[in-house]
Amino acid sequence: MGDLLPPPHRGSQNPGVSDPRIIVALDFPDAKEALAAAGRLDPALCRVKVGSELYTAAGPALIETLQKARFSVFLDLKYHDIPNTVASACVAAAGLGVWMINVHALGGRTMMEAARDALAKAKMRPKIVAVTLLTSMGASDLAQVGLGGTPQAAVLKLAQLSQASGLDGVVCSAQEAEALRRQCGKSFVLVTPGIRPADAGRDDQSRVATPREAIAAGADYLVIGRPITRAPDPMAALRAMSAEIVR
Ligand code: C5P
Repeated sequence: MGDLLPPPHRGSQNPGVSDPRIIVALDFPDAKEALAAAGRLDPALCRVKVGSELYTAAGPALIETLQKARFSVFLDLKYHDIPNTVASACVAAAGLGVWMINVHALGGRTMMEAARDALAKAKMRPKIVAVTLLTSMGASDLAQVGLGGTPQAAVLKLAQLSQASGLDGVVCSAQEAEALRRQCGKSFVLVTPGIRPADAGRDDQSRVATPREAIAAGADYLVIGRPITRAPDPMAALRAMSAEIVR
């Protein structure tokens, strides 16, 4: 990390001069690999996402190091518990100074409102978005857990509930973004994974969109992992995708 610059300041109030739309998923097993990957990226062009594997292994110290290197961090821990526990977890996450956090909309309105209310008192309030339905869940998975209807209907309903509960937005596929943008309006934040450049493989993602398609569908932020972190030149890949979606 020695080649990364010190920060002007940390946390959600740390967007720098730009507001990068690309969030690079640091899906690595430990801090060493994650920091090596981050060290090959420019925080003026991207944010980073730390999920449960990396956070469990590397914890708050890693978040602090990334923020010192000027990256704003999406802490992707998908909280889902009783309202009091989720609210407390959100306050703890806000204390780390992260830019964005998330919860499961299936935790219900009371849980989401508790999270929102707890964050309202935080010194640095991260954006808080909901995961509607995991994209790994199809119609048969819904039926197995006793939920009827199609995944699409569940996504729209859970997004509506997230918005009514005062959350800032949802994580959704690019395929869902257009309908959600129509339903939830301009200021509701849509965070979209499953992004692949036109000439890239899909890895294990089944429904993919290019960066340009996702933005055209209404996405605000794009979560991109392997197409950048596993590229021979991650910075070149990041630059190319940023250029594709320039505002
Ligand atoms: O490497 P790739 O671009 O497929 O990484 C996508 C990232 O977005 C991963 O961290 C994955 O866990 C996350 N994600 C996803 N689909 C969702 C929600 C999150 O791929 N529905």
